[in-house]
Amino acid sequence: MSDEGISNLSTEDRRFDPPAELAENANATAETYQRAEADRLGFWADAAHQLDWGTPFEEVLDWSDPPFAKWFVGGKLNVAHNCVDRHVEAGHGDRVALHFVGEPGDTRDITYAELKDEVSKAANAIEELGVEAGDRVAIYMPMIPETVIAMLACARVGAPHTVVFGGFSSDALASRVDDCEAKLVITADGGYRRGNPSSLKPAVDEAVAKLGDASPVENVLVVRRTEQDVPWDDEIDSWWHEAVGNASSEHEAQMFDAEHPLFVMYTSGTTGKPKGILHTSAGYLVQTAYTFWATFDHKPETDVYWCTADVGWITGHSYITYGPTAAGATQVLYEGTPDTPDKGRWWEIIADKGVTLFYTAPTAIRTSMKWGDEIPARHDLSSLRILGTVGESINPEAYVWYRDTIGGGSTPIVDTWWQTETGAHMITPLPGVTSAKPGSAMTAFPGIAADVVDDAGTPVGNGEGGYLVLTEPWPAMLRTIWGDDERFRETYWARFEAQGYYFAGDGAKKDADGDIWLLGRVDDVMNVSGHRLSTTEIESALVSHPKVAEAAVVGAADDTTGQAVCAFVILRDSAGASTDEQGGEDVVQELRTHVGKEIGPIAKPRKVLIVQELPKTRSGKIMRRLLRDVAENREVGDASTLADSSVMDLITSGMSDTKNQED
Ligand code: PRX
Repeated sequence: MSDEGISNLSTEDRRFDPPAELAENANATAETYQRAEADRLGFWADAAHQLDWGTPFEEVLDWSDPPFAKWFVGGKLNVAHNCVDRHVEAGHGDRVALHFVGEPGDTRDITYAELKDEVSKAANAIEELGVEAGDRVAIYMPMIPETVIAMLACARVGAPHTVVFGGFSSDALASRVDDCEAKLVITADGGYRRGNPSSLKPAVDEAVAKLGDASPVENVLVVRRTEQDVPWDDEIDSWWHEAVGNASSEHEAQMFDAEHPLFVMYTSGTTGKPKGILHTSAGYLVQTAYTFWATFDHKPETDVYWCTADVGWITGHSYITYGPTAAGATQVLYEGTPDTPDKGRWWEIIADKGVTLFYTAPTAIRTSMKWGDEIPARHDLSSLRILGTVGESINPEAYVWYRDTIGGGSTPIVDTWWQTETGAHMITPLPGVTSAKPGSAMTAFPGIAADVVDDAGTPVGNGEGGYLVLTEPWPAMLRTIWGDDERFRETYWARFEAQGYYFAGDGAKKDADGDIWLLGRVDDVMNVSGHRLSTTEIESALVSHPKVAEAAVVGAADDTTGQAVCAFVILRDSAGASTDEQGGEDVVQELRTHVGKEIGPIAKPRKVLIVQELPKTRSGKIMRRLLRDVAENREVGDASTLADSSVMDLITSGMSDTKNQED
């Protein structure tokens, strides 16, 4: 975190109080904080009692073997029953669960009663395909209702899912399927993006082929979305509309232990191999449902909620598939991009569906700002009453634009800090309570304990910066890294072992009032458009290309995407070309495409710079800080610890003629 960043933040002194009417009727109030403060575990027990339990829990938290937590010990429940059947049983079967909007303009409303039938049918179908409780299922899908249905069906039968973002490549899919040994893959022929059908099924075939005899995949279930031709293998492929279409809508939901695995979500860490973050059933559902209710002040009878995240990320899991359905919400599910067929698409959907609660990422807000105020101004956005952000800090300028231009100058903004690992909101304003400051995530959610500490683990004073830690276990916390307890301990708990704190990997500052400002990652993880990418993972992808000898990747500050991937690459001599040609466009594009194929288009470096040397310390560690200076067009900082101090001159002198390489 830079001192410059800290001092910039301290000049922000605007405050936005909750609108009086909202505060009066708010779900969460000042008393909510007091109750949680007085009895943290009792507070979470109360939240848990909002759910339906097959067997009540006996103990709220078992923390006798840290960092391995058990929440709601002895309790049994069924997650899908809580997200779906419960609302039908309570007489809300006619309430719309999903307002689906396809990119080409097709729409489909699915009520809770219909969702119950669809989830039950899908549960029967996957059981018919041999899936049992505990088996893993990979889901590789576009943003369509069947994706949510597939996840809930897995939850219903107790088969942990791993959803792989549809924008990831077949290689990324293969490594995840392999790591969690998925028996079934649920996919689609494709989906609609940017006005065209994209394909998904061929990538599944490639992944299965790549894994060869070692492939754990026994079946592939394929949703027909685009009607494009797909390669077919009768041995393992079946159509969703046949298998699910013909299945019974009666399915008895079995009760599973509170700690039964619910899903594995892969996320980038500081090494080349993505980590499979394991979330379990009850604690995850309690915190996602409760935070959804409190942070968005959700009123099931009148609110229409929309989260623009893809279900392939944690935000889509916690705040599309699980939290909102557990709360019986009506929500919008949109398949496509914000600019198809035109840049007003999101605002048109908000006006059309009467969206009241809207949740998106700062990068999308900055993009809309760039597109111009006149675009949202064409639509009636007066239904909106709360706006949320997630994924990175929101800069005050974008915050105020969001509030004024989208929120009509009166909607509170909830800037929610959390992570794949935390499973649910951890630091956020509450819309009926907090006097919010643009750019600050403010304070820990009721029942959550967060702090900012120095190197030694001592809390910093107000006005000082340090590392963000979570000082007490929380219900939706990750339970481990799939198959790697040691890495779990090492990554999150070793840094402040003496204190027993969870190390989030983020830098943060407490302002004069003790409110928390997030300052970005302190490790080698980048944040591009709110998505986490690991420098090492992209470096490994680059080095796997036969022409590359060595690579270093940094995240360079970017006005729209937060950070942009910038790669410095040394080519092998055998790449054959002269220095001039080595730096040529062809190899640069080849490397960008290669990273796109290895990981996915979002990981493609914005810039690839071919260099002769990389700046290294005497012990061989690449000094990314110096490369970041170059990538951000700054004067290069202190290079005195370099083994060869002339390296930076060489790199900077080769920089002058680079241009934006993006397609
Ligand atoms: O650096 C923080 C940033 O995103 C990281 C978590 O990324 P991921 O696991 O992909 O989850 C993103 C969606 C929950 C964090 O370590 N981050 C997330 N939300 C915020 C944020 N940084 C600042 N402010 C936020 N509101």
